[in-house]
Amino acid sequence: MPELDGIMSQFTAELGEADNERALDDLRVRYLGKKGLVTAQFKKLGELSPQERPARGAELNLLKERVQEKIERRRAQLQSAQLSKPTLDLTMPGRQPQVGRLHPLAQIEQRIRSIFRSMGFTVETGPEIETDYYNFTALNTPEWHPARDEADTFYIDDDRLLRTETSPVQIRVLERGHLPVRMIAPGRVYRKDKPDPTHFPVFHQVEGLYVDRGVTFADLKGTLLHFYRQLFGSETELRFRPHYFPFTEPSAEVDASCYLCKGAGCRICKGNGWLEMGGSGMVDPNVLEAVGIDSEKWTGYAFGLGIERIAMIWYGIDDIRLFYENDLRFLRQF
Ligand code: DAH
Repeated sequence: MPELDGIMSQFTAELGEADNERALDDLRVRYLGKKGLVTAQFKKLGELSPQERPARGAELNLLKERVQEKIERRRAQLQSAQLSKPTLDLTMPGRQPQVGRLHPLAQIEQRIRSIFRSMGFTVETGPEIETDYYNFTALNTPEWHPARDEADTFYIDDDRLLRTETSPVQIRVLERGHLPVRMIAPGRVYRKDKPDPTHFPVFHQVEGLYVDRGVTFADLKGTLLHFYRQLFGSETELRFRPHYFPFTEPSAEVDASCYLCKGAGCRICKGNGWLEMGGSGMVDPNVLEAVGIDSEKWTGYAFGLGIERIAMIWYGIDDIRLFYENDLRFLRQF
């Protein structure tokens, strides 16, 4: 029947546009509901003769079934599409990307490296497990020196220990026999210290060494002055206080004027205007001779400084343990 074909094709077109369940319900009502298009055809059956009625009735039932079936199939389609669709809310605030950064100690170390590199120093490394020879003997450290005590050093066995300073790298580099040497050695060192606000059993140092013909204490002073001025600002002054180190003679401790108060006294320098930075001196001839260098021809200076110390001064950190706790609230500040 052309009339029924028309209803079917109209239904098919409208079905294609029903893209949600609500539209599908409306469609069902429009065709199969009490006043629906298909229902209306059933109502017209009464107008037909008894002979015509059965065939027409069968046709209408078929139409109704097909409409019902198509609606149900479409409903199933819509439901499964809905399930597999990712629930994407474009209005949601974005997730902050977590950007990593260097640990404050690594940042300070890089700064130190780059200042010394600009003065022609190479960067050298050595093992953290050292022998007694490199850590003490070759550095002219006498048997009675407190650093050798079991209470101060982590021994692994009679001969091996966790290095207590980065100075043994000097020996390893000098042993190669290529002079002149102008190097720094940054790295981790270990001491049997109880953790407190200024001590930790592991910390970081930078060792410096320059051996050449005619190196004098004036070179040491000039180099360190330039370094600390680069680090803390061009108004920085240095003060050398006589001291004792086994591997240098003469030796001095180096103080820098406080970068914050310029010597007037403040909380950073604990009121005295100076900041203790580390040790230094002229390489002891015994150290040079021990690695086969003629100390009449060659002289050198050496110095050591603590990376934690610089970081604490620079950032105003009052507890060294904060560096090792991996607390992101602390680390994110740098
Ligand atoms: N190694 C010394 C320390 O840990 C620091 C030091 C002092 C290194 C004087 C040196 C130096 O090279 O000449 O206390």
